[in-house]
Amino acid sequence: MNYVRCFFICCAYLLATWISTVHSVPPSPVNCDTNGLNCLVSSTYRVWPDRSTCRAAKVTYPSTEEEFKSSVAHAVKNNLKIKVISKLAHSAPKLICPGGDNGLLISTRDYAKKIIVNISSSTATVDSGVELRDFVDAIAKYGLALPHSPYWDGLSIGGLLSTGAHGSSLWGNGGAVHEYVVGMRLIIPASADEGFVRIMDLTKEDKDLNAAKVSLGVLGVISQVTFALQPMFKRSIRNVLRTDEGLEEKIIAFGSASEFGDVTWYASKRRAVFRVDNRVPVNIAGDGVNDYIGFQKTSRAALEAQRDTG
Ligand SMILES: Cc1cc2nc3c(=O)[nH]c(=O)nc-3n(C[C@H](O)[C@H](O)[C@H](O)COP(=O)(O)OP(=O)(O)OC[C@H]3O[C@@H](n4cnc5c(N)ncnc54)[C@H](O)[C@@H]3O)c2cc1C
Ligand SMILES: *[C@@H]1O[C@H](CO)[C@@H](O)[C@H](O)[C@H]1NC(C)=O
Repeated sequence: MNYVRCFFICCAYLLATWISTVHSVPPSPVNCDTNGLNCLVSSTYRVWPDRSTCRAAKVTYPSTEEEFKSSVAHAVKNNLKIKVISKLAHSAPKLICPGGDNGLLISTRDYAKKIIVNISSSTATVDSGVELRDFVDAIAKYGLALPHSPYWDGLSIGGLLSTGAHGSSLWGNGGAVHEYVVGMRLIIPASADEGFVRIMDLTKEDKDLNAAKVSLGVLGVISQVTFALQPMFKRSIRNVLRTDEGLEEKIIAFGSASEFGDVTWYASKRRAVFRVDNRVPVNIAGDGVNDYIGFQKTSRAALEAQRDTG
């Protein structure tokens, strides 16, 4: 279940406002001088307005695993701190800041090429820079689906995994994306004898896989991730508005009865919206529209008016 929806809805509003008022595509979170040095770093929706509080000496944009290895080797050899950053950096905490002025940022912006589907095992292996929406679209062509995901699909695979991003479910292994990871390939620091860098392949037989899945970006660079997929399905969604009386007792029963169930609590109004959300076969007719209010394009005038009254 997702108890902290307000945070995400607020983020979505901020993001939508900002996109509709300033740019159609968000600008890069990393701004460096003309030589690509002395970078100031921000998150996409500017959660920390003073960019001088998050700096990096340099940013690299590898497009192959070999280039990632050389960036990591260079940093290890020169004793630099490393952080990985996705193309758009949506995380609110300063997880992408390397710390100090001497750190190296390695961006996955240009590392979004491979999505390899294995039909016989119902798995897919994907580069860490691939955006969630591109991944979902690619596997859909094979009739496959990732059963759970965060509600916003403009996040990178490496970034959403590192922070334990989730949808909403109490069923089975729950709604976190990392529960569906069956393999990972990491690029990690190594000794000078090994050339300062090493590849680590983890499969579901390695117990370290569980430790590596949600790393907050501190266990090395995630190069690739392999997911266990399911046959594609549709979701049938109905929102029910009720009073919040006895919510704390009703919520577990509700979550147990609805596979993707979700509750948004409007505490000051003493009400809650229960989202009854279940899996149905793909051949059931539906309107095929995701009209979740948080992520719709909204005009600047409407948002300004809403804020003035809010
Ligand atoms: C509008 C909006 C809606 C959201 N909705 C949800 C939701 O429904 N559920 C939910 O759980 N979360 C949600 N989130 C939060 C989101 O899942 C996280 O902020 C996520 O970490 C962002 O991923 P990113 O690709 O932007 O990563 P970044 O912000 O670039 O990075 C996040 C972390 O991952 C690390 N990292 C990134 N790539 C790699 C890599 N290749 N190797 C190693 N480390 C790496 C970074 O160093 C950093 O520590 C939402 C965020 C927004 C802005
Ligand atoms: C696909 O998965 C099957 C079953 O796990 C495995 O035997 C096969 O080697 C995989 N194919 C590739 C190309 O990795």
